[in-house]
Amino acid sequence: MNVGLKTLILPAGEAAVAAAADCLAEGGLVAFPTETVYGLGADATNAGAIARLYQAKGRPSFNPLIAHVSDLRAGMRIACFDATAIALAEAFWPGPLTLVLPKTKNCAVADLATAGLDTAAIRVPAHPVARAILRALGGPVVAPSANLSGHVSPTTAAHVQTDLTGRIDLIVDGGAVEVGVESTIVGCFDQPMLLRPGGLPRGEIERVLGRTLPQPPDDADNYTSQPLAPGMLASHYAPRTRVRLNAERIEAGEALLAFGSATVPGTKRATAVMNLSAGGDLTEAAANLFGYLRALDAKGARTIAVMPVPHHGLGEAINDRLRRAAVGRE
Ligand code: TXA
Ligand code: MG
Repeated sequence: MNVGLKTLILPAGEAAVAAAADCLAEGGLVAFPTETVYGLGADATNAGAIARLYQAKGRPSFNPLIAHVSDLRAGMRIACFDATAIALAEAFWPGPLTLVLPKTKNCAVADLATAGLDTAAIRVPAHPVARAILRALGGPVVAPSANLSGHVSPTTAAHVQTDLTGRIDLIVDGGAVEVGVESTIVGCFDQPMLLRPGGLPRGEIERVLGRTLPQPPDDADNYTSQPLAPGMLASHYAPRTRVRLNAERIEAGEALLAFGSATVPGTKRATAVMNLSAGGDLTEAAANLFGYLRALDAKGARTIAVMPVPHHGLGEAINDRLRRAAVGRE
């Protein structure tokens, strides 16, 4: 175990970017902000570093990682882009979209990161700090969300500290992230498929494709049908407190995660109330989601009751994460 490491925290800036690139090049583990959530980075070509990354997160090693690259050209060295993949990359990179594609023959990403699959997940992040680190290192960086496996993803450096202090080398603090939910994952197979709803709404992708984006049939349990045992990720985003969805009234001892301006009966009874977006704005709600789940989880309530959130736009990703937070705690 790499518990007992001294975890340095540096404010984002030139010195932090240089320290991050040096640390990654030496096989270290660096948490840094992306526009979606904080990522825990390791050199994608260094199997030893990736092994330590899985260990630091307590993550099952058959769950593959996303390789972050600085641009489409760098992505093309790792994976084979067909016309659809190029169209999506050109429309949405840099940004909150991950593409799963066949690996190239001399793909430098370590097999451990792709869990032995013949595909790789690739993303070009938009956050300036992530981009500066990728440029400084000059190679791909694998980065799962920088939380302990099973916890909600971190949207601030403080969340990363809570989960990973003593387990990683460096945290680059770039403030709160903008999007708040992880990237949307599209598998570019014979026909493109939505493997995970996320920070890029499905509708925008469908507009570029000119058709609807199907989901794999068993997505209720898995983000990705291939690499995972059924149910593996079902409670991936779970806080410790039980989560109750579509709450229409609040019972004694419950905390309330609200959405919009409506109130539900019993709100006065709630031990704590946080509103994802009082104005009903789904972008604001996505940005607040994981931080509010963490904050309510810390209140020691019997249950976190969640008001219904509409399903359009970013609502699809928000409802996906909420459903996963509720599974396994029933
Ligand atoms: O926004 C994000 O995507 C964040 C930031 C840090 O970039 N990263 C992130 O990584 O959410 P992670 O490891 O928490 O989620 C990666 C997902 C997993 O569900 C994994 O199964 C899937 O990507 N994945 C990775 N490689 C895959 C592959 N070759 N085929 C299918 N799914 C894959
Ligand atoms: Mg994650």
